[in-house]
Amino acid sequence: MKFFIDTANMDDIKKAYKMGVLNGVTTNPSLVAKEGVKFEDRIEEILLAVPDVESVSAEVTPDAITAEQMMAEADELIKINNGDKRVTIKVPMTEAGLETTRYLAKKGVKVNVTLIFTVNQALLAARAGASYVSPFLGRLDDISEDGVLLVSKIAELFRIHNIDSQIIAASVRHPDHVTRVAMAGADIATIPFKVIQQLTKHPLTDQGIEKFAADWTKAVK
Ligand code: G3P
Repeated sequence: MKFFIDTANMDDIKKAYKMGVLNGVTTNPSLVAKEGVKFEDRIEEILLAVPDVESVSAEVTPDAITAEQMMAEADELIKINNGDKRVTIKVPMTEAGLETTRYLAKKGVKVNVTLIFTVNQALLAARAGASYVSPFLGRLDDISEDGVLLVSKIAELFRIHNIDSQIIAASVRHPDHVTRVAMAGADIATIPFKVIQQLTKHPLTDQGIEKFAADWTKAVK
């Protein structure tokens, strides 16, 4: 399973990239709104900061409701950074989103269909030509459903039918989500930076470092 970072914050993106584990970045209207910057400028800044990742998701705005509106926005977004092929258009799982997915896929543009909450939605998105489908596990857990189970069902379905759309486990809230979606067969987890940092931690690692340091100091003295 690969790691994407789920943020539009440049400091967090740069720190995660330096850790050497990043394969992509996902943003959404809520994440970009938090940053108070112009959307297209931020996507370009991200593309420049993470030169060798496979994908940077740029979502159509909530103002785009019809397929025509989504396609028009997408056609502008794919021009960013001189038509950078890593720009992945993120569309919501609606009929208009599916139509937009087909339109973009035919042009060779990568699409990430977001706000997936059922296996059927994932299958539809894949058949429309999505490169990525994004089930939101945390939000399912919030309503007492099993987000990880959804990821594992989608992974099984894609395996049975030889579907090569990649599953991005999204709405990841804590390290145990990461372990469980990796075991469930997600291709990618998109994770907030705080959770990426949590993944690096274990109290015994800290204790081990302290003990090595103490023993080293004693020996040197
Ligand atoms: O990747 C989707 C994510 O941004 C939503 O996460 O925590 O708002 O459900 P959350």
